[in-house]
Amino acid sequence: MAELRCRLLNLVLPNPIVLASGVVGISATLLERVARAGAGAVTTKSCGLEPRAGHPNPVTVDWGAGVLNAVGLSHPGAEAEVQMLREARARLEPLGVPLIASIFGGTVAEFGEVARRVSRARPHLIEVNISCPNVGDEFGTPFAARDWSAASVTEAVKANVGDIPISVKLAPNVPNLAHIAGAVIEAGADALTAINTMPGLVIDADAGRPVLSNHTGGISGPALKPIALRCVYELAQKVQVPIIGTGGVTTGRDAAEMLMAGATAVGVGTAIRYRGVEALGEIARELEIFMAAQGYASLAELRGLALPAGTRQPAPVYPGARVTQ
Ligand SMILES: Cc1cc2nc3c(=O)[nH]c(=O)nc-3n(C[C@H](O)[C@H](O)[C@H](O)COP(=O)(O)O)c2cc1C
Repeated sequence: MAELRCRLLNLVLPNPIVLASGVVGISATLLERVARAGAGAVTTKSCGLEPRAGHPNPVTVDWGAGVLNAVGLSHPGAEAEVQMLREARARLEPLGVPLIASIFGGTVAEFGEVARRVSRARPHLIEVNISCPNVGDEFGTPFAARDWSAASVTEAVKANVGDIPISVKLAPNVPNLAHIAGAVIEAGADALTAINTMPGLVIDADAGRPVLSNHTGGISGPALKPIALRCVYELAQKVQVPIIGTGGVTTGRDAAEMLMAGATAVGVGTAIRYRGVEALGEIARELEIFMAAQGYASLAELRGLALPAGTRQPAPVYPGARVTQ
């Protein structure tokens, strides 16, 4: 069978399928369940400084081609998160599945402070969510929308995490994605996660009003896949840091497409709604079967295969890569 072990920065994942932030990553036991079911790494739901209740129900709707959500970043606050991360790490370490801690902040300084606190739990990677459609600067613009705000957050986080690597999570709805990616890499990002959800709206025609309590939300699932593939494809031609390609992956074949677009690892969230917590392990096995059937021996053979000739970046070398198993 094909080799699925995946090198991401200084980590070695049992496979490239990573639980995306927000869908189930709210407790150590749930993270462990997803890991035991075969995920290659798991990401927590984004955590901010103070506890936050989120929006009233309904916060998600499946409209048939994808999911629209406006959960409102409900979370227990940074102090409670540190306890949860410590427990999660202890549960995941024997399984060899790395823990990614997702953080957000309302200001640049808050991002730095959350990063500092969360680092105490020593997650393997910190994901910086600058792209939630509900969180932005003083004008309501997401930090991911501009090069300078994205870079300021990255710098503030990097200054507070010591030797823990960071991945900055980008938004799809910007006209200059590669430019913003360049700014965050220059500011210290070790990796990129692409992408967060795409703003959207679902209306209940019978009721004559939006379905979600927040009205608008973020589109995820199958409808997002072509957008995510395009973003990863654009980024992979310009950057040398690894990309966690995320958006609309629900099968092993989808995961192969994301790798072919240039991703190093593949984030999966909404598929859990369709296939349960077993989804990630099943997608990894489907990827392995696809690779064997098509004659691919390793992930390196798939990575960037669909990129235009001559634009495939050389595989980054991380001499310190650590096998966590
Ligand atoms: C219900 C729900 C909650 C989410 N919460 C977060 C979050 O807290 N932080 C974050 O960075 N992304 C969050 N996301 C975005 C996902 O991590 C992912 O980027 C997006 O859903 C696209 O991947 P998918 O199509 O596989 O779900 C959330 C998505 C959903 C559906």
